[in-house]
Amino acid sequence: MFFYPFYNYCSFHTTIWLWSLFLIIKQTYSQEIFASQTILSSQGNQYIPANMPAQLISITNTDSIKKCSILCNNNVLCRIFDYGVSSSKQCRLFEGDTNKLGQIVSSSSSQAQVGTLQISARLFAEYGSPCISTCNQIRYLRCGSNSTCECMPHTYWNASISMCIPQSPILGASCQQNMSMCRQDLNYTCLQFNQCGPLSVLSGTTIADDTTKMSNSPTVGVNSPTGIDILGTNSDSIIIVDDGNNRILGLWDADTNYTNISVVATVGASGQSLSMPLDVYVNARNGCDIYVTNYATSQVVLYSNMQTINPLPRIVAGDGFRGTELSSLYFPYGVVVDSHKNVIVALMLNHRVMFWPPNALNGTIIVGHISAISGATSMDLDMPVGIAIDEHNSWLYVADSNNHRIQRYNLNDTWPCNGTTVAGGNGSGSRSNQLSAPSYIKISNKTGALYIVDNGNNRIQRWNQGATEGVTIAGDINGNPGSSDTTFNYPSALAINHNETFMYVTDYNNNRVQRFQLI
Ligand SMILES: *[C@@H]1O[C@H](CO)[C@@H](O)[C@H](O)[C@H]1NC(C)=O
Ligand SMILES: *[C@@H]1O[C@H](CO)[C@@H](O)[C@H](O)[C@H]1NC(C)=O
Ligand SMILES: *[C@@H]1O[C@H](CO)[C@@H](O)[C@H](O)[C@H]1NC(C)=O
Ligand SMILES: *[C@@H]1O[C@H](CO)[C@@H](O)[C@H](O)[C@H]1NC(C)=O
Ligand SMILES: *[C@@H]1O[C@H](CO)[C@@H](O)[C@H](O)[C@H]1NC(C)=O
Ligand SMILES: *[C@@H]1O[C@H](CO)[C@@H](O)[C@H](O)[C@H]1NC(C)=O
Ligand SMILES: *[C@@H]1O[C@H](CO)[C@@H](O)[C@H](O)[C@H]1NC(C)=O
Ligand SMILES: *[C@@H]1O[C@H](CO)[C@@H](O)[C@H](O)[C@H]1NC(C)=O
Ligand SMILES: *[C@@H]1O[C@H](CO)[C@@H](O)[C@H](O)[C@H]1NC(C)=O
Ligand SMILES: *[C@@H]1O[C@H](CO)[C@@H](O)[C@H](O)[C@H]1NC(C)=O
Ligand SMILES: *[C@@H]1O[C@H](CO)[C@@H](O)[C@H](O)[C@H]1NC(C)=O
Ligand SMILES: *[C@@H]1O[C@H](CO)[C@@H](O)[C@H](O)[C@H]1NC(C)=O
Repeated sequence: MFFYPFYNYCSFHTTIWLWSLFLIIKQTYSQEIFASQTILSSQGNQYIPANMPAQLISITNTDSIKKCSILCNNNVLCRIFDYGVSSSKQCRLFEGDTNKLGQIVSSSSSQAQVGTLQISARLFAEYGSPCISTCNQIRYLRCGSNSTCECMPHTYWNASISMCIPQSPILGASCQQNMSMCRQDLNYTCLQFNQCGPLSVLSGTTIADDTTKMSNSPTVGVNSPTGIDILGTNSDSIIIVDDGNNRILGLWDADTNYTNISVVATVGASGQSLSMPLDVYVNARNGCDIYVTNYATSQVVLYSNMQTINPLPRIVAGDGFRGTELSSLYFPYGVVVDSHKNVIVALMLNHRVMFWPPNALNGTIIVGHISAISGATSMDLDMPVGIAIDEHNSWLYVADSNNHRIQRYNLNDTWPCNGTTVAGGNGSGSRSNQLSAPSYIKISNKTGALYIVDNGNNRIQRWNQGATEGVTIAGDINGNPGSSDTTFNYPSALAINHNETFMYVTDYNNNRVQRFQLI
């Protein structure tokens, strides 16, 4: 890519282009035109905006690139134009920049060229002055509601360069509060977690609740849902634990907003012993095997190949007793399974995390103590609930609920592992560096960020890797419970779909499953 500063062009071009800029500005500011310029790319390039519908101003035909340039200069929003992309005379005008809001790429049309308008900072000198000053003569400023000169629509004030620059039309673009960095005409604001988006991303949509009818059971509704996981890697079918009804539900067909919901396992079927199930893990590698922790029997059971409705479960961990022996699982909660079908299960009341290879009679302690005591050191847990595994990197994450922290362990270390606090760990509370009885974790495969169900705070927190505080992406920032579409009442678990566009949350006391758009 080659950029020719405008003054490198031949004098004929210079005349035309200075003249076109001259049109913009009243006589008093004519000297400023020498500080503004149009930069042309070499031939064979075109502009790709980040958000075409939001940034494209017009498509017309002009006789020459110079006339296209004049059109851009005459449009107060235009910062970029390209010429000759789809046809020889095509002139497209855009808002934006070539840094964050789009880029110049090579074009299949060898004649195509991109022009970028660079406006002089001196044109913004009157920003913030009373309107009686000259701002009303400068097309890049306008008189605002409080009678001071302010930025034109679709632009915001960047104090470090003293200019109005384009707002972002990109969903999820990073932003700072109180700076109007996001395109207001798209209803984007800088959300509480410093990304541009509509307020609607903070609102959940209910996909199942206590009125939901099952396609294969007369028992209506979801009652105190706990664990949740996504079935498969290319659909948004969901498996949830309907704890209050002692059953596992399948929520099929995201395309019809989950109008097909069915019971996939329950206590009644012959050979089954489901009673107070808590968590579910879908092993999509194996024909969608579903692992469930079952409180009443102190076991982990496996439903193989969920294409069959109500298959027989198989016990894969736990001798059925609630002791401290390595064969016992006392209050098994969070469960994950690795690629070798080893089961990793958190024992809430043995305060440890156990590893069970297939067909083992005893488990091995990954975290915690043979005596099953609780504690708050890096070797201890106090009521671990949800767990997550990043097998690619050999990390295990544990929601250490009664220590109000998320611990991370390197599975390569000698077991029992010594943990590091990666979120919370500052006592129970709702400040941004705190958690309250966190119950579940998922790890973003895109960014490594942690999504944490902050159960006692009725909110979902996101902690970026290495962050010392989290941001609330759903629920009340201050931890208050509620039943509106922006609040929870003791959320228990969450799932994220494969391309990380949606988050699903089981909202325990509201007896519902909520879906949120992720940005
Ligand atoms: C009002 O004017 C001041 C500058 O005097 C500016 O900082 C502020 O943002 C303006 N407020 C509004 C609402 O435009
Ligand atoms: C202001 O402009 C500078 C220089 O382009 C840039 O580095 C900075 O990120 C901008 N700040 C904001 C808040 O847009
Ligand atoms: C900044 O935004 C917060 C809310 O996000 C608001 O309470 C505060 O008054 C704003 N400050 C300014 C200077 O606009
Ligand atoms: C922005 O919100 C207003 C009011 O709710 C609505 O009328 C308008 O269509 C929205 N615009 C976009 C681009 O969504
Ligand atoms: C994400 O995946 C869902 C299906 O799981 C699909 O409907 C959607 O189009 C995908 N979105 C993106 C941005 O890939
Ligand atoms: C699904 O729900 C969304 C949001 O409530 C709605 O916009 C969409 O039309 C629904 N789709 C179907 C197929 O019902
Ligand atoms: C509901 O989903 C299940 C599981 O995918 C499927 O077997 C069944 O045919 C679906 N029923 C309807 C009415 O679509
Ligand atoms: C299982 O662990 C217990 C201690 O909890 C031990 O006594 C027993 O020998 C172990 N059994 C096997 C088969 O390793
Ligand atoms: C664990 O060991 C594997 C293989 O040597 C390595 O790829 C991985 O990065 C290690 N994990 C950690 C967390 O150190
Ligand atoms: C756990 O790790 C910390 C920090 O590296 C260290 O200070 C501590 O001695 C370790 N504890 C044990 C029991 O290995
Ligand atoms: C919060 O807890 C973390 C982990 O224990 C610790 O590193 C950090 O210093 C604590 N922050 C405050 C403000 O106490
Ligand atoms: C996502 O998963 C892939 C495949 O396991 C892995 O190579 C990649 O490092 C993961 N990314 C993150 C951020 O964990």
